[in-house]
Amino acid sequence: MNNKYELIYEGKAKKVFSHSESDKVIIEFKDDATAFNALKKAKFEGKGKLNCLISAKIFEHLIKNNIPTHFIELKNENIMMAKKIKVIPLEIVLRNTAYGSLCKQTTIKSGTVLAKPLIDIYLKNDELNDPLITKDRIELMKILSSKDLDSIINLTLKINGILKSFFKNIQLQLVDFKLEFGYDSKNNILLGDEISPDNCRLWDLNQKNDTIVSLDKDRFRNDLGGLIEAYSEINRRINNFI
Ligand code: TMP
Ligand code: ASP
Repeated sequence: MNNKYELIYEGKAKKVFSHSESDKVIIEFKDDATAFNALKKAKFEGKGKLNCLISAKIFEHLIKNNIPTHFIELKNENIMMAKKIKVIPLEIVLRNTAYGSLCKQTTIKSGTVLAKPLIDIYLKNDELNDPLITKDRIELMKILSSKDLDSIINLTLKINGILKSFFKNIQLQLVDFKLEFGYDSKNNILLGDEISPDNCRLWDLNQKNDTIVSLDKDRFRNDLGGLIEAYSEINRRINNFI
Protein backbone atom coordinates (compact mmCIF):
# COMPACT_ATOMS: atom_id res chain seq x y z
CA MET A 1 0.00 0.00 0.00
CA ASN A 2 1.57 3.37 -0.95
CA ASN A 3 2.30 5.79 1.88
CA LYS A 4 -0.17 8.53 0.94
CA TYR A 5 -2.65 6.54 3.05
CA GLU A 6 -2.38 6.40 6.83
CA LEU A 7 -3.04 3.09 8.59
CA ILE A 8 -5.91 3.67 11.01
CA TYR A 9 -6.72 0.10 12.07
CA GLU A 10 -5.21 -3.34 11.64
CA GLY A 11 -7.36 -6.40 12.25
CA LYS A 12 -6.56 -10.08 11.92
CA ALA A 13 -7.39 -10.28 8.22
CA LYS A 14 -7.55 -6.66 7.03
CA LYS A 15 -5.85 -3.27 7.27
CA VAL A 16 -7.90 -0.06 7.12
CA PHE A 17 -6.31 3.15 5.77
CA SER A 18 -7.59 6.71 5.77
CA HIS A 19 -8.63 8.35 2.48
CA SER A 20 -8.21 11.98 1.38
CA GLU A 21 -12.02 12.22 1.53
CA SER A 22 -12.72 11.80 5.24
CA ASP A 23 -15.93 9.81 4.78
CA LYS A 24 -14.11 7.03 2.90
CA VAL A 25 -11.55 4.38 3.81
CA ILE A 26 -9.28 2.02 1.92
CA ILE A 27 -9.38 -1.62 3.04
CA GLU A 28 -6.53 -4.01 2.26
CA PHE A 29 -7.24 -7.74 2.59
CA LYS A 30 -4.32 -9.69 4.08
CA ASP A 31 -3.23 -13.27 3.44
CA ASP A 32 -3.26 -14.03 7.18
CA ALA A 33 -5.73 -16.54 8.60
CA THR A 34 -6.56 -16.96 12.26
CA ALA A 35 -8.91 -19.26 14.13
CA PHE A 36 -10.04 -19.67 17.73
CA ASN A 37 -9.34 -16.02 18.51
CA ALA A 38 -5.93 -16.17 16.89
CA LEU A 39 -4.70 -19.19 18.88
CA LYS A 40 -4.12 -20.70 15.46
CA LYS A 41 -2.41 -18.62 12.77
CA ALA A 42 -1.20 -19.14 9.22
CA LYS A 43 -0.63 -17.31 5.96
CA PHE A 44 -2.15 -18.41 2.66
CA GLU A 45 -0.75 -16.69 -0.39
CA GLY A 46 -3.63 -15.30 -2.44
CA LYS A 47 -6.31 -15.49 0.29
CA GLY A 48 -6.51 -11.69 0.65
CA LYS A 49 -7.07 -11.26 -3.07
CA LEU A 50 -9.73 -14.01 -3.22
CA ASN A 51 -11.66 -12.68 -0.20
CA CYS A 52 -11.55 -9.13 -1.56
CA LEU A 53 -12.83 -10.20 -5.01
CA ILE A 54 -15.53 -12.47 -3.53
CA SER A 55 -16.65 -9.81 -1.03
CA ALA A 56 -16.85 -7.15 -3.74
CA LYS A 57 -19.10 -9.33 -5.91
CA ILE A 58 -21.35 -10.19 -2.95
CA PHE A 59 -21.58 -6.57 -1.76
CA GLU A 60 -22.55 -5.52 -5.31
CA HIS A 61 -25.27 -8.17 -5.33
CA LEU A 62 -26.57 -7.04 -1.92
CA ILE A 63 -26.56 -3.38 -2.99
CA LYS A 64 -28.61 -4.33 -6.07
CA ASN A 65 -31.06 -5.88 -3.62
CA ASN A 66 -31.31 -2.66 -1.58
CA ILE A 67 -29.08 -3.66 1.32
CA PRO A 68 -27.10 -0.64 2.61
CA THR A 69 -23.40 -1.60 2.73
CA HIS A 70 -20.09 0.20 3.19
CA PHE A 71 -18.73 -1.04 -0.16
CA ILE A 72 -17.93 1.58 -2.80
CA GLU A 73 -15.60 -0.04 -5.34
CA LEU A 74 -12.65 -2.34 -5.91
CA LYS A 75 -9.35 -0.47 -6.24
CA ASN A 76 -7.16 -3.45 -6.85
CA GLU A 77 -7.41 -7.23 -6.51
CA ASN A 78 -6.89 -7.08 -2.74
CA ILE A 79 -7.96 -3.49 -2.01
CA MET A 80 -11.40 -1.92 -1.87
CA MET A 81 -12.72 1.56 -1.16
CA ALA A 82 -15.54 1.75 1.38
CA LYS A 83 -17.58 4.28 3.30
CA LYS A 84 -16.09 5.07 6.69
CA ILE A 85 -18.23 3.63 9.47
CA LYS A 86 -18.15 3.54 13.24
CA VAL A 87 -18.20 -0.20 13.78
CA ILE A 88 -20.81 -1.52 16.25
CA PRO A 89 -18.90 -3.96 18.50
CA LEU A 90 -21.22 -6.91 17.86
CA GLU A 91 -20.78 -9.99 15.67
CA ILE A 92 -24.15 -11.11 14.31
CA VAL A 93 -24.11 -14.79 13.41
CA LEU A 94 -26.99 -16.30 11.49
CA ARG A 95 -27.28 -20.09 11.31
CA ASN A 96 -29.40 -22.05 8.80
CA THR A 97 -27.83 -25.40 9.65
CA ALA A 98 -26.38 -26.45 13.01
CA TYR A 99 -22.58 -26.67 12.99
CA GLY A 100 -19.52 -25.30 14.80
CA SER A 101 -19.97 -23.68 18.19
CA LEU A 102 -23.75 -24.27 18.27
CA CYS A 103 -23.10 -28.01 18.38
CA LYS A 104 -20.29 -27.67 20.91
CA GLN A 105 -22.48 -25.63 23.29
CA THR A 106 -25.86 -27.41 22.90
CA THR A 107 -27.15 -30.92 22.27
CA ILE A 108 -28.22 -30.06 18.71
CA LYS A 109 -26.70 -32.51 16.26
CA SER A 110 -24.24 -31.30 13.64
CA GLY A 111 -25.86 -30.87 10.24
CA THR A 112 -29.43 -30.41 11.54
CA VAL A 113 -31.28 -28.05 9.20
CA LEU A 114 -32.92 -25.47 11.49
CA ALA A 115 -36.67 -24.91 11.18
CA LYS A 116 -36.00 -21.16 11.14
CA PRO A 117 -32.78 -19.16 11.04
CA LEU A 118 -31.09 -18.79 14.42
CA ILE A 119 -29.40 -15.50 15.27
CA ASP A 120 -26.57 -15.58 17.82
CA ILE A 121 -25.01 -12.29 18.85
CA TYR A 122 -21.44 -12.06 20.17
CA LEU A 123 -19.63 -9.13 21.77
CA LYS A 124 -16.73 -8.14 19.49
CA ASN A 125 -14.00 -8.09 22.10
CA ASP A 126 -10.85 -10.19 21.64
CA GLU A 127 -9.77 -9.78 25.28
CA LEU A 128 -13.05 -11.35 26.41
CA ASN A 129 -12.87 -13.94 23.62
CA ASP A 130 -15.99 -12.62 21.81
CA PRO A 131 -18.58 -13.99 24.28
CA LEU A 132 -22.17 -14.83 23.32
CA ILE A 133 -24.27 -11.89 24.56
CA THR A 134 -27.96 -11.30 25.36
CA LYS A 135 -30.28 -8.46 24.30
CA ASP A 136 -30.47 -7.36 27.94
CA ARG A 137 -26.69 -7.22 28.27
CA ILE A 138 -26.47 -5.21 25.03
CA GLU A 139 -28.97 -2.74 26.53
CA LEU A 140 -27.09 -2.70 29.83
CA MET A 141 -23.83 -1.90 28.05
CA LYS A 142 -25.63 0.79 25.97
CA ILE A 143 -24.03 -0.56 22.79
CA LEU A 144 -27.00 0.52 20.68
CA SER A 145 -30.73 1.21 21.04
CA SER A 146 -33.19 -1.68 20.91
CA LYS A 147 -34.68 -0.09 17.78
CA ASP A 148 -31.28 -0.21 16.03
CA LEU A 149 -30.68 -3.75 17.28
CA ASP A 150 -34.01 -4.79 15.76
CA SER A 151 -33.03 -3.07 12.49
CA ILE A 152 -29.75 -5.01 12.42
CA ILE A 153 -31.51 -8.30 13.10
CA ASN A 154 -34.08 -7.62 10.36
CA LEU A 155 -31.32 -6.67 7.92
CA THR A 156 -29.46 -9.89 8.79
CA LEU A 157 -32.59 -11.98 8.06
CA LYS A 158 -33.08 -10.16 4.76
CA ILE A 159 -29.40 -10.64 3.82
CA ASN A 160 -29.80 -14.35 4.62
CA GLY A 161 -32.66 -14.66 2.14
CA ILE A 162 -30.62 -12.97 -0.59
CA LEU A 163 -27.40 -14.89 0.11
CA LYS A 164 -29.07 -18.28 0.48
CA SER A 165 -30.50 -18.13 -3.03
CA PHE A 166 -27.32 -16.52 -4.44
CA PHE A 167 -25.21 -19.41 -3.14
CA LYS A 168 -27.78 -22.07 -4.05
CA ASN A 169 -27.52 -20.88 -7.66
CA ILE A 170 -23.83 -21.77 -7.57
CA GLN A 171 -24.41 -25.11 -5.84
CA LEU A 172 -23.44 -24.02 -2.34
CA GLN A 173 -25.33 -24.48 0.91
CA LEU A 174 -25.12 -21.41 3.15
CA VAL A 175 -24.75 -23.07 6.55
CA ASP A 176 -24.05 -19.95 8.63
CA PHE A 177 -22.30 -16.58 8.46
CA LYS A 178 -21.13 -13.66 10.58
CA LEU A 179 -21.91 -10.01 9.88
CA GLU A 180 -20.75 -6.70 11.32
CA PHE A 181 -22.55 -3.38 11.02
CA GLY A 182 -21.65 0.26 11.64
CA TYR A 183 -22.93 3.83 11.47
CA ASP A 184 -21.96 6.24 8.68
CA SER A 185 -21.55 10.00 9.30
CA LYS A 186 -25.34 10.47 8.96
CA ASN A 187 -26.04 7.69 11.48
CA ASN A 188 -27.33 5.29 8.84
CA ILE A 189 -26.72 1.63 9.63
CA LEU A 190 -24.53 -0.02 6.98
CA LEU A 191 -23.31 -3.59 6.56
CA GLY A 192 -19.52 -3.54 6.99
CA ASP A 193 -16.57 -5.93 7.17
CA GLU A 194 -16.49 -8.63 4.47
CA ILE A 195 -18.61 -11.48 3.13
CA SER A 196 -16.26 -14.25 2.17
CA PRO A 197 -15.41 -17.88 2.94
CA ASP A 198 -13.60 -16.52 6.04
CA ASN A 199 -16.93 -15.62 7.68
CA CYS A 200 -19.45 -17.87 5.92
CA ARG A 201 -19.73 -21.65 6.07
CA LEU A 202 -20.35 -22.91 2.53
CA TRP A 203 -20.89 -26.59 1.71
CA ASP A 204 -20.59 -27.98 -1.78
CA LEU A 205 -23.95 -29.18 -3.09
CA ASN A 206 -22.23 -30.99 -6.00
CA GLN A 207 -21.88 -34.15 -3.90
CA LYS A 208 -23.48 -37.47 -4.73
CA ASN A 209 -23.71 -38.65 -1.10
CA ASP A 210 -24.15 -36.84 2.21
CA THR A 211 -20.46 -36.09 2.81
CA ILE A 212 -19.84 -32.55 3.95
CA VAL A 213 -17.35 -30.76 1.71
CA SER A 214 -16.49 -27.39 3.26
CA LEU A 215 -15.38 -24.69 0.83
CA ASP A 216 -14.60 -22.15 3.58
CA LYS A 217 -12.29 -21.37 6.52
CA ASP A 218 -13.19 -24.69 8.18
CA ARG A 219 -10.51 -26.08 5.83
CA PHE A 220 -8.02 -24.24 8.04
CA ARG A 221 -9.92 -24.44 11.37
CA ASN A 222 -10.23 -28.23 11.05
CA ASP A 223 -6.89 -28.89 9.26
CA LEU A 224 -8.58 -30.16 6.10
CA GLY A 225 -6.06 -28.57 3.69
CA GLY A 226 -6.87 -27.06 0.29
CA LEU A 227 -8.01 -23.63 1.51
CA ILE A 228 -6.84 -21.67 -1.53
CA GLU A 229 -8.31 -24.30 -3.88
CA ALA A 230 -11.68 -24.00 -2.06
CA TYR A 231 -11.73 -20.17 -2.10
CA SER A 232 -10.68 -20.17 -5.78
CA GLU A 233 -13.56 -22.53 -6.57
CA ILE A 234 -16.03 -20.15 -4.88
CA ASN A 235 -14.59 -17.22 -6.83
CA ARG A 236 -14.75 -19.21 -10.07
CA ARG A 237 -18.40 -20.18 -9.52
CA ILE A 238 -19.38 -16.58 -8.66
CA ASN A 239 -17.68 -15.25 -11.80
CA ASN A 240 -19.33 -17.86 -14.00
CA PHE A 241 -22.72 -17.02 -12.54
CA ILE A 242 -22.63 -13.22 -12.58
P1 TMP B 1 -19.14 -20.62 15.06
O1 TMP B 1 -19.89 -21.86 14.73
O2 TMP B 1 -17.69 -20.87 15.34
O3 TMP B 1 -19.81 -19.81 16.13
O4 TMP B 1 -19.16 -19.72 13.74
C1 TMP B 1 -20.35 -19.31 13.13
C2 TMP B 1 -20.05 -18.53 11.86
O5 TMP B 1 -19.44 -17.30 12.16
C3 TMP B 1 -19.12 -19.24 10.88
O6 TMP B 1 -19.58 -18.99 9.56
C4 TMP B 1 -17.79 -18.60 11.08
C5 TMP B 1 -18.15 -17.20 11.51
N1 TMP B 1 -17.21 -16.63 12.48
C6 TMP B 1 -16.48 -15.51 12.15
O7 TMP B 1 -16.59 -14.99 11.04
N2 TMP B 1 -15.64 -15.00 13.08
C7 TMP B 1 -15.47 -15.53 14.31
O8 TMP B 1 -14.68 -15.00 15.10
C8 TMP B 1 -16.24 -16.69 14.64
C9 TMP B 1 -16.10 -17.33 16.00
C10 TMP B 1 -17.09 -17.20 13.70
N1 ASP C 1 -12.02 -14.90 13.42
C1 ASP C 1 -11.65 -15.76 14.50
C2 ASP C 1 -10.24 -15.52 14.98
O1 ASP C 1 -9.86 -14.49 15.13
C3 ASP C 1 -11.89 -17.18 14.35
C4 ASP C 1 -12.82 -17.80 13.38
O2 ASP C 1 -13.15 -17.23 12.35
O3 ASP C 1 -13.14 -18.96 13.64
O4 ASP C 1 -9.39 -16.28 15.29
